[in-house]
Amino acid sequence: MPEKLKIAVLASGRGSNFQAIINAIRDGYIDVEVACLISDSPKAFALNRAKEAGIESLYMASQKHANANDYYGTIATELKDRGVGLICLAGFMRIVKKPLIDAYPMRIINIHPALLPSFTGLDGQQKAIDYGAKIAGCTVHFVDEGVDTGPIIVQAATFVYSDDDEESLSQRILNLEHKIYPYAIKLFSEGRLSLKGRVVSIRDEKKEDGFIISPRL
Ligand code: GRF
Repeated sequence: MPEKLKIAVLASGRGSNFQAIINAIRDGYIDVEVACLISDSPKAFALNRAKEAGIESLYMASQKHANANDYYGTIATELKDRGVGLICLAGFMRIVKKPLIDAYPMRIINIHPALLPSFTGLDGQQKAIDYGAKIAGCTVHFVDEGVDTGPIIVQAATFVYSDDDEESLSQRILNLEHKIYPYAIKLFSEGRLSLKGRVVSIRDEKKEDGFIISPRL
């Protein structure tokens, strides 16, 4: 039996995507082990979720490090020590730097609340509303050195209604995030992703005809 993939989740706040990952493991939807949660904020609710689920958590303050390279180098060491093979950023409010990216090439993924390449950076949902987009959504992508620029793995979409505000749209997008993040982890852990240039291909992908707003994963 090949060893189970160990993942780490990096989160700065509420951690609802982290919870979706925990739930997907519990439900048997994904066959991976969360080796640890790392947070850069002592107040992150994600830390409570880790405790509740019996998952090791590390609070790693960036201020304790001389610079960002040192910070990310230390994170890389902690994760290598634990045998982590995939890093999942889930509301981690920092731009990951080279020492971690080089230690985990195409092994760091992120969830972003917009349909990339539109609306990178903060407040993707409000940016979609302000732009007048009629369809919005979320993206799981590999992390490179840019901000939300890495190869796209999965996306899901929802309508933007005329009476939507940031809260209502964010909630609908979040429901989709909780579906596609576990799905992307499943694809990675089953070795079904391959990369050519910046294009990710999915082996044995489910195909559906027509226009899909919320894919059945
Ligand atoms: C999500 O909207 C995610 O797309 C973005 O940050 C938010 C994190 O939410 N990167 P949560 O902490 O997982 O609840």
